[in-house]
Amino acid sequence: MAKKITTIIPKEEIEKQYHFMQSVQSENERIAASKGKRNAKAFVRTFGCQMNEHDSEKISGMLTSMGYEITDCQEDCDIIVFNTCCVRENAEEKVFGHLGALKGLKRANPDLIIVVCGCMTEQPHIVDEIRKKYKNVDLVFGTHNLHRFPELIYNVMTSRVRTYETSRTDSEVAEGMPVKRDSNIKAWVTIMYGCDNYCSYCIVPYVRGHERSRRPEDILKEIKELQSQGIKEVTLLGQNVNSYGKDLEPAATFAGLLDLICKETDIPRIRFMTSHPKDISPELIDTMAKHPAICDQLHLPVQSGSTRLLEKMNRRYTKERYLDIINNVKKKIPGISLTTDIIVGFPGETEEDFAETLDLVEKVGYDNAFTFIYSKRTGTPAASYPDQVPDDVVKERFDRLLALQNGISRRINDTYEGKIVEVLTEGLSKNNTDRYTGRTGGGKIVNFTAPYDVTGKIVNVKITHIQTWSLEGELIEDEK
Ligand code: SAH
Ligand code: SF4
Ligand code: F3S
Repeated sequence: MAKKITTIIPKEEIEKQYHFMQSVQSENERIAASKGKRNAKAFVRTFGCQMNEHDSEKISGMLTSMGYEITDCQEDCDIIVFNTCCVRENAEEKVFGHLGALKGLKRANPDLIIVVCGCMTEQPHIVDEIRKKYKNVDLVFGTHNLHRFPELIYNVMTSRVRTYETSRTDSEVAEGMPVKRDSNIKAWVTIMYGCDNYCSYCIVPYVRGHERSRRPEDILKEIKELQSQGIKEVTLLGQNVNSYGKDLEPAATFAGLLDLICKETDIPRIRFMTSHPKDISPELIDTMAKHPAICDQLHLPVQSGSTRLLEKMNRRYTKERYLDIINNVKKKIPGISLTTDIIVGFPGETEEDFAETLDLVEKVGYDNAFTFIYSKRTGTPAASYPDQVPDDVVKERFDRLLALQNGISRRINDTYEGKIVEVLTEGLSKNNTDRYTGRTGGGKIVNFTAPYDVTGKIVNVKITHIQTWSLEGELIEDEK
């Protein structure tokens, strides 16, 4: 098959969207003037992963450019956007629950515009369900049409016709759209969209489309801007960052991109997610070891410790190969913090398969593991596998895995007692307002006392007390 090259959406199309943003803003000003009302307000709720959180920052960026004030109160606003996730069934149920709860708001304020977007809406059966059962929803659009949000909103505002826009452009990326970031300390930067891996349980490739990489120069430009705004930490995002750049002309690699970012910018901390074990290259590990700015943290989802199940999952590595990668990483980057994703109860999982998972978890010694109960996703190959595991068996295995991982996390955390760690301070802790909170390079949460405001600074903290999920300590030195 000929290689598909990713291109950038033409400038004229992006300019058109900026034009629509202005038109919506004028429309909002007109409404405000005629009704003697305050400025228009928007509420954005995000379900799902970091990718979606960042998409919501783009949605908020566009809404701000359209004259909306972003609010966290859903009751008193003019537009509500639900940016949805469908990776597991409970994510979808949550969205429907919240949508149902909006019916009263819409009755009280018929001018309210309700928008549903994100991964869920790339599934035709979901769009049908919204069309039939949630008549209060005004606009539905999919992940491929994010940059067209201003045009779609303008049409809904002026015509008040319910709109469903889920058409696809699968080899293009949008550049130059506005972003309203949630933090002025840390930032997400998308380096690629979509996924080509088709793990047999996973819906993501169907709803996010093919892998599409952004050009290195566009990524670099964004990071340089973030640096000039004082951002201290950048997380590079993609479903499988290790296959970055294969679709570009000239082709690029993820290790090469990291190298470029470290050479051309001074961002103190760089993270990335997610890495697929089948594509992780020795060059990437060397690049991580070489640059101090790349955090000593690797999220490497394993999904299962059973080679037999890994094959059924279409993951394309074995337990042994995975452990080899981990050993190489530990050797090259001593003390690296390792995290993973694990699915319990994949169809056909036997007690022996599960024992392999427990064994792998012991051998790796993860700092943290995100554990999920397998969820059947319509349209994925695994949904039609015959031997689904009974709920009670899955639950029992899930609890055993959790107990094992909790013990390991605690054991690793215990080694921090009395140590001095570098923390990027994010602000005052939410539930303990006389303490600051932040993360180490390895991603550990540290809550600590400081005699003055160290928000946004990278500081040294002495660890005095250990919890299973966090560390506690005190400031010992000012910013370096
Ligand atoms: N692209 C990333 C993760 C995407 S989804 C990667 O490949 O690692 C995040 C996690 O959700 C996955 O790693 C997997 O553990 C979990 N997941 C995906 N589909 C699932 C399903 N059908 N049921 C349960 N968990 C699932
Ligand atoms: Fe899903 Fe697999 Fe792609 Fe991750 S790599 S998004 S688990 S298909
Ligand atoms: Fe993320 Fe959920 Fe979509 S995990 S990519 S928001 S299906």
